[in-house]
Amino acid sequence: MNVLILGSGGREHAFAYSVIKSALLTKLFVAPGNAGTHEIATNVDLGITDFPAIKIFVLENNISMVIVGPEAPLVEGIYDYFQTEELKHVNVIGPSKQGAVLEGSKEFAKEFMKRNKVPTAAYKSFTKEALLEGMAFIDSLKPPYVLKADGLAGGKGVLIIEHADEAKDSLEEMLIGGKFGAASNKVVIEEFLDGIEMSVFVLTDGKSYKIMPNAKDYKRIGEGDTGLNTGGMGAISPVPFVDDVLMQKIEARIIKPTIEGFAKENIIYKGFVFIGLMIVNGDPEVIEYNVRMGDPETEVVLPRISSDFLAHLHAFAKAELHKEILSIDPRSATTVMCVAGGYPEGYKKGMEITGIEKIEDSIAFHAGTALKEGRIVSNGGRVIAITSYGENFKQALKSTYLNIEKLHFDTVYYRKDIGFDL
Ligand code: AMP
Ligand code: GLY
Repeated sequence: MNVLILGSGGREHAFAYSVIKSALLTKLFVAPGNAGTHEIATNVDLGITDFPAIKIFVLENNISMVIVGPEAPLVEGIYDYFQTEELKHVNVIGPSKQGAVLEGSKEFAKEFMKRNKVPTAAYKSFTKEALLEGMAFIDSLKPPYVLKADGLAGGKGVLIIEHADEAKDSLEEMLIGGKFGAASNKVVIEEFLDGIEMSVFVLTDGKSYKIMPNAKDYKRIGEGDTGLNTGGMGAISPVPFVDDVLMQKIEARIIKPTIEGFAKENIIYKGFVFIGLMIVNGDPEVIEYNVRMGDPETEVVLPRISSDFLAHLHAFAKAELHKEILSIDPRSATTVMCVAGGYPEGYKKGMEITGIEKIEDSIAFHAGTALKEGRIVSNGGRVIAITSYGENFKQALKSTYLNIEKLHFDTVYYRKDIGFDL
């Protein structure tokens, strides 16, 4: 079959890397892709939310599966767009527009959790008319205060604030000052959960599900988890502190009620659920749902799936996911993201990347790269992720760091302490 992947990051390169191993694949396209996907697939110049252009391409190239990387096409309803007579034979991997609201609205996600008894932090949400009530709610909570813009804010919409006065000022800036634009017309204020973060990834056709390898990512730019939030600076899979007891709690208390919630609420969901968790005294609570895979988590999760990933996705179409057996590589995988100096604020693009060919026993997943006159150049803040395997995460990291040394581009920066807290 012919497959189209939408997106251009390390996540999409990792998808491509897994999909090309499948005997089911005839031709793989990535739109728009990067210099890494160019080496193993055909890059196509399509906008990821330009549904009419995607439709023409899909029909002309006999595509039977579209794997959606980022959330934007899902939130804008690509699944629903493909339900017409002409397109419904195409298997879109991702939830319906209604399902994507789980990521598109924090309030909707919290209400869904409440209805389906999924453990999460206590909360209330406020619009600008209720600013004073919001301030009073802050006074009723213990510090620190967690303020979340309801809508999509590029991963920047969550503020954690120590002092009540500052939290009230921020609430006002969000609701009235338009701090995150329309995304903060509504703000969810919630109880602070003090624990250890990790993520689980579930593949579901809306009825049955498969639990993929878990992972932990490192979001801050600075070592010791300091400085600004980024898309993610590195990841480890599996998370070493997760034992069978914890995994059983996660499945029984969180994964099952979530998937059953989709069926109960008639939410069409055929895709990935990325569940951000906080483990508080051994008990899991949900911080957020994402309706896609994580980046850079995908760069450690997919390399640990040793069965035919495309076959698992194909089983969706036939509602046969329950028959699939997901094989997981017992080794650890780690990835470290090399970024352009200045990221996540201003940074340069177009710097030549050298040394990729010297990388051994590790995989270079391209994130922000492009080809320019035959050379590989940087084309984003997060540039390239180096993934390695090992008997444990420390060994895997050794290999990753050894290989990163061989890679060069102007201003390159990466965290040298991934896994420091484990
Ligand atoms: P989110 O965008 O919802 O993933 O939030 C960004 C980050 O804020 C998370 O990765 C957590 O580190 C932190 N966070 C969000 N909600 C809470 C909470 N209720 N308690 C503690 N930390 C939180
Ligand atoms: N690495 C976090 C995310 O993809 O949202």
